[in-house]
Amino acid sequence: MCGIVGYVGGRPALDVVIEGLARLEYRGYDSAGIAVLAEGGLATAKRAGKLVNLRGALEDEPLPAGTLGMGHTRWATHGAPNDRNAHPHVDCTGSVAVIHNGIIENFAALRGELEEAGHKLGSDTDTEAVAHLLEDELKAGGGLAAAMRRVCRRLEGAFTLVAVHTGDPDLVVGARRNSPLVVGVGDGENFLASDVAAFIAHTRDAIELGQDQIVELRPGGVTVTGFDGRPAEVKEYHVDWDVSAAEKDGHDYFMLKEIAEQPRAVADTLLGRIGADGRLTLDEMRISDQELREVDKIIIVACGTSFHAGLIAKYAIEHWAGLPCEVELASEFRYRDAILSPTTLVIAISQSGETMDALMAVRHAREQKAKLLGICNVNGSTLPRECDGVLYTHAGPEIAVASTKAFLTQLVAVYLIALYIAQVRGTKWGDEVFAMVQLLERMPEKVEKVLETMEPVRELARSLAGERCVLFLGRHVGFPVALEGALKLKELAYMHAEGFAAGELKHGPIALIEQGLPVVVIVPPRARDVLHDKIVSNIQEIRARGARTIVIAEEGDRSVEPYADTLIGVPAVPTLLQPLVTTVPLQVFACELATAKGHDVDQPRNLAKSVTVE
Ligand code: F6R
Repeated sequence: MCGIVGYVGGRPALDVVIEGLARLEYRGYDSAGIAVLAEGGLATAKRAGKLVNLRGALEDEPLPAGTLGMGHTRWATHGAPNDRNAHPHVDCTGSVAVIHNGIIENFAALRGELEEAGHKLGSDTDTEAVAHLLEDELKAGGGLAAAMRRVCRRLEGAFTLVAVHTGDPDLVVGARRNSPLVVGVGDGENFLASDVAAFIAHTRDAIELGQDQIVELRPGGVTVTGFDGRPAEVKEYHVDWDVSAAEKDGHDYFMLKEIAEQPRAVADTLLGRIGADGRLTLDEMRISDQELREVDKIIIVACGTSFHAGLIAKYAIEHWAGLPCEVELASEFRYRDAILSPTTLVIAISQSGETMDALMAVRHAREQKAKLLGICNVNGSTLPRECDGVLYTHAGPEIAVASTKAFLTQLVAVYLIALYIAQVRGTKWGDEVFAMVQLLERMPEKVEKVLETMEPVRELARSLAGERCVLFLGRHVGFPVALEGALKLKELAYMHAEGFAAGELKHGPIALIEQGLPVVVIVPPRARDVLHDKIVSNIQEIRARGARTIVIAEEGDRSVEPYADTLIGVPAVPTLLQPLVTTVPLQVFACELATAKGHDVDQPRNLAKSVTVE
């Protein structure tokens, strides 16, 4: 939520910042703004809407050239998404500018206090209060970093702040609590951003900032201290993907590129995790085998698409590892009295590693002394640091707001964890684990095969662009896949879409079926005969009531042919692994249908990647 870029060095700051914002626009696109420190002082420009509007404004009225600047792309929390509320915000004197990601929870009190003291606030945002607080604190002396420290100590909530001041034209100051901020270390230039994608074209050397830290960025160096002013220890790392990974690579949308990348992403998640003897080695997990043997319950917490990966994980963990497993929406988890103990393993799944609901769930579990394992895609993000161990998914940067390759790689990660626990606890024989691992290794090729046969799915999607509603049905692991198919369609095509457990139809949802209603049904492999036959009956039930049935079944499954208005074949794989092949047509379906409706699938309305507010 909200993308932040800061730059100081020798190049035109405007170009560097705008280029960085373009790479961060996936984080929010309600408005965009920029501030540059130039000879004439502080110059700002901001516009409601996507970055293209700001670019247009800058063409009409260029900003003076300067080599220090910062920019912001907004996902609105406080205040409507208009020009007035766009960042940067400045103080009364026009000498301090601030951009912000997060929510300052005590902003109303601070704002009241500032107004009483005579400050004039021109926006409805929580952010602007910070610019005016800095104005006051700068008078107290010590410079911008010291002023920021004092201000941060007064703020409640989650925030990343970046500020510049005309009094120190070589300095950009950043502050971080609970929201992402990384430093890019260059040669005679340095960068700050919510995500390394913003500066990856210039440097791949990065510094991870910790909680409650302040960073001072000058052309010649970077200094990091705590909110208390003490020098802070930082973690330096090298970003292992390059700029092409953050570009569309010939595709019209990032989403299309990311769907196409899935075979490679699945293969990368498996890479280095299978030893020569066929045994799994998850070294970076940092939870010992002894600790895993002591685990007596697993709770998975996650949001959105990652939650759907968690629902599928439950089937795998219970089946292979023989441990009871609960799956909970992270946003709900800490509001119930879940029973946790030091022998509970809480697995938090988050692509971004910055989702506030997931982080709060992890902290809640930590307070109750549970063991914590993260499944995460973004190196350097907060979640892995807050967990005892982590399994990275290695999907590469996911830029489209709708999650695709992250989901498939999360599935691979949970399969690996379930099989690893089975191996450690001996709930499956070594050769059984090995056999399943070998099947997993064949999944990139199966996903590739699905991708090669997607033209009929695209055609179908275009033909349904005029529909108002689509239902999705599944059983067993097909049920979370149905939920995922519906979520994709809602968020991209803005259509009413619901996923149901097929067995629940008769308990209510069947009343929704009417003549011509498109219903997508995910059919389990024939090998699961009871499950399979039950869903074939469900298809007949809805078809008898007029539904237009779109059936996803394994290739060669003739039993569904008579009841399918459209049949989509996927390669035959074991039941638990089937979501890896059945989800892909649903991603393609939603993407194509939304595109046919004229929507920007990379930036769906009202959404943002990385939801850093609760
Ligand atoms: C849907 C989608 C979201 C995210 C959710 C969690 O396509 O992308 O539902 O899955 O916001 O995000 P992470 O995984 O970053 O915690």
